[in-house]
Amino acid sequence: MKIMTLMGGPSPEREISITSGKAVSDGLRRLGHEVLEEDFSIETYENIRNLKPDLVFIVMHGSPGEDGSVQGMLEILGVPYTGSGVLASSLSMDKAALKRFLSDSDITMPSWFWVPESAEIDIAINRLAAQGMLFPVVVKPTSAGSTIGISIVKDEDELEEAIQNARKINPDAIVEQFISGKEVTVSIVGNDNPIILPTQEIIAEGGFYDYDAKYTPGKSEHVFPPDIAPASIYKAEEMAERAYIETGCLGFARADFIIGNNGEPYFLEMNTIPGMTEVSLVPDSAREHGWSFDELLKRIAEYALEHFSSSVRKQH
Ligand SMILES: Nc1ncnc2c1ncn2[C@@H]1O[C@H](COP(=O)(O)OP(=O)(O)OP(=O)(O)O)[C@@H](O)[C@H]1O
Ligand SMILES: [Mg+2]
Repeated sequence: MKIMTLMGGPSPEREISITSGKAVSDGLRRLGHEVLEEDFSIETYENIRNLKPDLVFIVMHGSPGEDGSVQGMLEILGVPYTGSGVLASSLSMDKAALKRFLSDSDITMPSWFWVPESAEIDIAINRLAAQGMLFPVVVKPTSAGSTIGISIVKDEDELEEAIQNARKINPDAIVEQFISGKEVTVSIVGNDNPIILPTQEIIAEGGFYDYDAKYTPGKSEHVFPPDIAPASIYKAEEMAERAYIETGCLGFARADFIIGNNGEPYFLEMNTIPGMTEVSLVPDSAREHGWSFDELLKRIAEYALEHFSSSVRKQH
């Protein structure tokens, strides 16, 4: 096939996306495909019209690309693409929207509230008290990734600066209860009947899986199987699968959890285009399941074509 790997673009995660994109291109070439690498820009629409790829493999992180916008462009162009569609991508990119969407789904989440663009700091302080939330709390931009703009806040004095930091990335933010426990990530692949790949524990140097811990070799460890009660892992996997299906995710995604010290998994977020370097979390889980990096790419491409052919059938 002629496959375009779409990467880069103006998102804050541009560099990571290019690293992932190049790894995907190499893998697709090893599988025998003709690969066209595209650094996303305003020219991309015309380039796709002219080059007519059989499939676009989207390896963009953050906005635009992971948020449904590029998926919408490809829907209009009628070109098959990997991963989730417009709605699942945009819902998953917006942490507040996804939490609201899944609020009646029996998925345990940390207590949280939304801080709109215009909210004064006093409003946030009142909400914390009203919801019985205690410090530390976590402040996040609503739509970002790679821990960019996220702070762990130990007391009221640090809250304003944390909200300002998050607002540098997005106009609005969320405040979430900090959950003390162990971090795990659940990798999921497939369309209607997704496969749960082996869950891994993430142990970050310093305890916080921040940008540095994510991308500096040796600063975090991926552990199989997690040193956590199997019942808690099973519960997280069930929640991940439910979130994937209810949100309408396709192809592949990765759900992040903290398993609290009480053994209860707390769902943090869904990543619809997770890191795809050969040492990223989803490829690691695939390897543990017995699939090489290339085998994983092959399946993601197949899920995309399978979905595209069934949705084209539905339209006619
Ligand atoms: N409520 C919480 N309690 C404890 N730690 C948290 C909490 N929320 C986030 N963290 C820590 O911050 C990290 C980043 O949070 P989160 O996964 O929500 O953001 P992200 O920037 O979208 O991440 P990604 O790179 O996976 O897209 C988590 O991996 C975890 O280490
Ligand atoms: Mg995360």
